[in-house]
Amino acid sequence: MTDTKITLPESEIPSHFYNILPDLPTPMPPPLHPGTKQPIGPEDLAAIFPMALIQQEMSPERWIEIPAEVRDIYRLYRPTPLFRARALEEVLDTPAHIYYKSEHHSPVGSHKLNTALVQAYYNREAGIKRLATETGAGQWGSALSCACRLMGLECMVYMVRVSYDQKPYRRIMMKTYGAEIVPSPSVLTNAGRSILAEHPDSPGSLGIAISEAVEDAAGRDDTNYSLGSVLNHVLLHQTVIGLEAKKQMEIAGEYPDFVIACHGGGSNFGGFAIPFAHDKIKTGRTRTRIIAVEPSACPTLTAGRREYDFGDTAETTPLIMMHTLGHKFIPPPVHAGGLRYHGSAPLVSHLLAEGVIGAEAYHQGEVFQSAITFARCEGTIPAPESAHAVHSAILHALRAKEAGEPWVIAFNLSGHGHFDLAAYESYLAGTMDLQA
Ligand SMILES: Cc1ncc(COP(=O)(O)O)c(C=O)c1O
Repeated sequence: MTDTKITLPESEIPSHFYNILPDLPTPMPPPLHPGTKQPIGPEDLAAIFPMALIQQEMSPERWIEIPAEVRDIYRLYRPTPLFRARALEEVLDTPAHIYYKSEHHSPVGSHKLNTALVQAYYNREAGIKRLATETGAGQWGSALSCACRLMGLECMVYMVRVSYDQKPYRRIMMKTYGAEIVPSPSVLTNAGRSILAEHPDSPGSLGIAISEAVEDAAGRDDTNYSLGSVLNHVLLHQTVIGLEAKKQMEIAGEYPDFVIACHGGGSNFGGFAIPFAHDKIKTGRTRTRIIAVEPSACPTLTAGRREYDFGDTAETTPLIMMHTLGHKFIPPPVHAGGLRYHGSAPLVSHLLAEGVIGAEAYHQGEVFQSAITFARCEGTIPAPESAHAVHSAILHALRAKEAGEPWVIAFNLSGHGHFDLAAYESYLAGTMDLQA
């Protein structure tokens, strides 16, 4: 019997991130300047990002070295274990082999710290003293607050109003790390004030919060903006997940038929899936299905259109080619706050258009049902976002049973749900909108 928990020593923490840009079947359409509609250059981003990250955004290099200081901090929680979900397999009575990578083992409880540390590091090296950002579920805000503290920077977080109200403990966590938090839309920025003038009760959205954080960063010399998803460099940093997972699957002596991760802006999905997408593009492992899972309430990949759109509501970002529901779209306040983004990573959109990956969308009722099944077998309570991947993995394991096939299913458990218990309470009490 193979181990239940497949671990790697610290010496196996990846030394380089994997950049898929040079391996894409076709080049990605470039981001455009919103005024001139011409491709943007590095200088267009320099007001809010450090040059090292701008270079990574466009890098033609396949492997990009991870700074030694970041790798040292990764030792606090990396490599994360890969689990074989034996108890879940037994309950589902499936011939499938189910594996999950445990990004909830990070100190902040999700994958987001992987990129937060790199971004804080490069900003500090560039002389920046303070980072401004947005957060949906609070996971990214927690991660950046922690990373800023560990790297000696200040942190300002615009937190989507609905999550700010639903998740007081996330707020307290960020404050514990020393960050400043305001609910978004806020009165601190022009973008926030103009939304509040029209919609005083706005629940907020990631698009609005991004506008606020970008405005904050653009208005101060000591401050840069930090984004927790969507951009190429963010997905690049998250590839540590998939790189480790591939080694761990090798130890298990298996290769996944299904690679599954939830999708908000695409960093969790990209980080887990891109090293496997490499194999699909480059080594002919075409049988593997790589699936991004999103909420039906915000079906960016399954129902959005791929076109140039703004990353934020106030139209301050470059135009990016992505699957989008439109930058004015405000998703219903489902509990998976981190999946409420109108767009998707250009890289993920491109891989979808190329047929390398697929996408699925589910309602929150069925997602929570699967999350509870998982918690009762495996012990870990998934974040509502991660529960989307759990649900898809369970459905494919049940299909394996119907087909009598021992499919190998690997998914990423991007975070735990310890700060999301109000969502579980509403499901258990029968008050959740199951069809949202
Ligand atoms: C636990 C968890 N998983 C996944 C996501 C999805 O984000 P992304 O697709 O941008 O990585 C989030 C976003 O906040 C999250 O908190």
